[in-house]
Amino acid sequence: MYRTHNNGALRAEHINSTVTLAGWVQKSRDKGFMIWVDLRDRYGITQLIFDEERTPKEVMELAKTLGREFVIQVTGTVIERESKNPKMPTGDVELLVEKLEVLNQAKTPPFTIEDTTDGGEDLRMKYRYLDIRRNPVKEKLIFRHKVSIAVRNYLSEKDFIEVETPYLIKSTPEGARDFVVPSRMNEGQFYALPQSPQTFKQLLMVGGMDKYFQIVKCFRDEDLRADRQPEFTQIDCEMAFVEQEDILNIFEGLTKHLLKEVVGFEIENFPRMTYDEAMSKYGNDKPDIRFGMEFGELNAVAQHKEFKVFNDAELVVGIAVPNGGSYTRKEIDTLIDWVKRPQVGALGMVYVKCNDDGSFKSSVDKFYDQEDLAKWAEATGAKTGDLICVLSGEASKTRTQLSALRMELATQLGLRKSNEFAPLWVVDFPLLEWDEETNRYHAMHHPFTSPKPGQMELLDTDPGAVKANAYDLVLNGNEIGGGSIRIHDKETQSKMFDYLGFSKEEAQAQFGFLMDAFQYGAPPHGGLAFGLDRLVAILGGQETIRDFIAFPKNNAGRDVMIDAPAKIDEAQLKELNLKVTL
Ligand code: AMO
Repeated sequence: MYRTHNNGALRAEHINSTVTLAGWVQKSRDKGFMIWVDLRDRYGITQLIFDEERTPKEVMELAKTLGREFVIQVTGTVIERESKNPKMPTGDVELLVEKLEVLNQAKTPPFTIEDTTDGGEDLRMKYRYLDIRRNPVKEKLIFRHKVSIAVRNYLSEKDFIEVETPYLIKSTPEGARDFVVPSRMNEGQFYALPQSPQTFKQLLMVGGMDKYFQIVKCFRDEDLRADRQPEFTQIDCEMAFVEQEDILNIFEGLTKHLLKEVVGFEIENFPRMTYDEAMSKYGNDKPDIRFGMEFGELNAVAQHKEFKVFNDAELVVGIAVPNGGSYTRKEIDTLIDWVKRPQVGALGMVYVKCNDDGSFKSSVDKFYDQEDLAKWAEATGAKTGDLICVLSGEASKTRTQLSALRMELATQLGLRKSNEFAPLWVVDFPLLEWDEETNRYHAMHHPFTSPKPGQMELLDTDPGAVKANAYDLVLNGNEIGGGSIRIHDKETQSKMFDYLGFSKEEAQAQFGFLMDAFQYGAPPHGGLAFGLDRLVAILGGQETIRDFIAFPKNNAGRDVMIDAPAKIDEAQLKELNLKVTL
């Protein structure tokens, strides 16, 4: 037996018992006649004491050779500590060591294995296994485990069955590029790794599974951001014989359950908002509703004066910054520079200070009088002491820019509190989205999403206006899930592929299996998928998912620890009938 207890277990009640512990040397202090060692494992730290008078000589000698991160096993007697440490669960006791065995030596780690480390991101990723020994990383992985278990229990209680679906499949269009895997046995042919198990879960509904879920890896070759990884995990779900309402209710329940179980946060409101409303109020289809600063449209009150910039704009829109009236000229200039950065792309920003005496001072006083500006304040909900920031231009671009400013200001003002949670359903998404690059419509969610009843006909006349039975789950300004009610008959599905520009042959070759299945009694069905990494990160009070993934990829999609992707050797290429030309 390697150990009788772990390093977080010993308490005053264990005093005088003989125990065996194992773990890593966190640090040691050698006073010559006495050596203290902090012994660490996943469960905590226990202080060991080696004492010239009470510890055998050879053990004392060996203890002097211990370095950081050595793996050791010790046996000894639990004794009361002279100076107790109330901050440590094991702080009342220490282990007077009688036997010591070095199970493995360790090179000096490239960074300190402490809560606050001297290691930079790159170094920590290269030695991720050492990083995982650190509390902040370890705790995030344990937290993730708790979320996964809570999800499994909840869904299983509700009659969902976890079914595994294959990873070596054919392309599933979720809007990203596929990662592909060459097939040795089928020369010149490739599998695609699933961007999601979308088609398989629909086939499980045809198979009568009724309620399915899976905590599953998905693979998407897309540009990476703080909330995106090339391989990530979904809580993927599908249900038969349901309408949108049923799905929203079940997953509202799951979200509330997780918030309560995992972070102890009780949700009263679980609002729903249409896509159109989200865009006009927040300029964003995943609004953070933990704070106000809703958009006020100003066309009616700001156009038809002498200010050409506004008159020429499709949209003039502003937000009120709480207590922003006290911003200095320099602070406002910094904000203006911020919106003009290429990443945001505004041409400028007009501002109005709402003075304490009820008067207004704006950057466009030449064109607008106090009465005009009072109307702006009314439209944006600005109060005395606030600052109104106004952007203008092409409608959708301007909304995106103002949304970015709203989020930036909220972050600066500390309004995005990590221990507050505000979930929200965004519903009635458009079915299609115009793609500037290819000059055509694409499915906004995916091609299996059904249009709202009676809207199929609109596809011919006004495709952009067709709304879908699609919904996103938003938490604190992040899209943590999305789904839809699906098309479940061959004819509609085939028509949808037509609209999306697939030829009959392409549609048949890529998705014939699904449309065939629809001919054998497909039930009405729908579902959604949560992004587990995002969900866990947000519940954990952060937005960077990498920290919650044991072995994440860097921004270039590389695993710097194992150095992947990597070349493969000639023989392997030959076996796969692949030629690489660079
Ligand atoms: P969707 O593409 O919206 O839907 O994905 C569902 C959720 O997965 C998360 N997500 C990601 N997380 C980390 N890195 C990524 N690269 C990444 N891409 C997506 C998001 C997102 O909300 N098959 C459909 C679901 C359905 O219709 O049932 C789907 O995959 O949190």
